[in-house]
Amino acid sequence: MSTAGKVIKCKAAVAWEPNKPLVIEEIEVAPPEANEVRIKIVATGLCHSDLYHLYEGMHKDGFPTILGHEAAGIVESIGPGVTEFQPGDKVIPIFLSQCKECCFCKSPKTNQCIVAWKRVIMESLVGAESRITCKGKKIFQFVGTSTFSEYTVIDQIAVAKIDPAAPLDKVCLIGCGICTGYGAAVNTAKVDSGSTCAVFGLGAVGLAAVMGCKAAGAKRIIAVDINPEKADKAKVLGATNYVNPKDHNKPIHEVLAEMTNGGVDFSVECVGRVDVMRSALESCLPAWGVCVIVGWTQVSEVAIQPTDLIAGRTLKGSLFGGFKSKDGVPQMVKAYMDKKLQVDEFITHNMTLDQINDAIELMKLGKCIRTVMNVSPQ
Ligand code: APR
Ligand code: ZN
Repeated sequence: MSTAGKVIKCKAAVAWEPNKPLVIEEIEVAPPEANEVRIKIVATGLCHSDLYHLYEGMHKDGFPTILGHEAAGIVESIGPGVTEFQPGDKVIPIFLSQCKECCFCKSPKTNQCIVAWKRVIMESLVGAESRITCKGKKIFQFVGTSTFSEYTVIDQIAVAKIDPAAPLDKVCLIGCGICTGYGAAVNTAKVDSGSTCAVFGLGAVGLAAVMGCKAAGAKRIIAVDINPEKADKAKVLGATNYVNPKDHNKPIHEVLAEMTNGGVDFSVECVGRVDVMRSALESCLPAWGVCVIVGWTQVSEVAIQPTDLIAGRTLKGSLFGGFKSKDGVPQMVKAYMDKKLQVDEFITHNMTLDQINDAIELMKLGKCIRTVMNVSPQ
């Protein structure tokens, strides 16, 4: 029986308030309105940014919400005006839209989209419109996606159509962590062949940055993390060295300077801590080193001495790896299908949506790279 045009009652993990476990609830998902698609989520990853919103963010207004933004699914129905998608299409939702009409989208200089800035980033990381309710209450759609749910409704400018043969329980990770880290190295830092790189933080984002440095032809890739359990995976993905800052009694940038004849050509910060951001910048060669900030935080500021930059260092930021989202996601899925991109290596645990709080605990304890939650059957 077709569900098109009807409200769908289904299961989702609702975050009623900050700092509390998620609660599995029955929710109502309204049909898609103009230019929207309703998607059956098949699989979703849990990313550090979901935890950030739940535990560290300043967005106390953004609750109740359904978190989750790293997923893959199947289009269930489409709203008026949608021509690009059909029910049955395999898709990846994206937290960063690509409307293809605004001045940012039309410029090759950025992957930002004005619609995303207005709706998502400036409005406390919650979608302005929500099609989801629970117990009569409107539920915010975190970054416009809300993938910790069997069904969600998303604007078509934030949905990418992918190869129908792609395994959704794997390529879901391309929806955030993999593009974010890989693209930070390849697109934003523009790592070049023969260079020396340092990646700080070896979660999925940092490991994807390691993979991007390798793909770009870096000669040395130094992986930095305070958790030694991350070292082996970093080497699998291309790191040539692992350094634990806790093993040294001097600042990490001095350790890296000694290892590299004065500093690395490129550093990528994938932790989200301002002290690490400063270390990443100072680890770069003063004459031309490029430091890219990927880790997300809004709770404090990075102190920079002007002389850190004056000799020639560059400090840049990267959101979604600099990929124009709707264009980049299908390309990355194709790279995976062509065996040019590793994704399976990032998945350390598989769970069901009911076990979401266990997945959160694993990430808090640093015991996983990515947990993929199987939400609905394909
Ligand atoms: N120095 C080096 N590594 C550190 C430090 C530190 N001082 N503190 C924490 N780490 C490491 C952790 O041990 C962990 O391996 O950073 C890693 C972070 O990984 P995850 O928690 O798995 O996070 P991930 O999903 O990869 O996201 C990383 O990117 O997109 C952003 O919001 C996201 O800020 C987050 C960052
Ligand atoms: Zn746009």
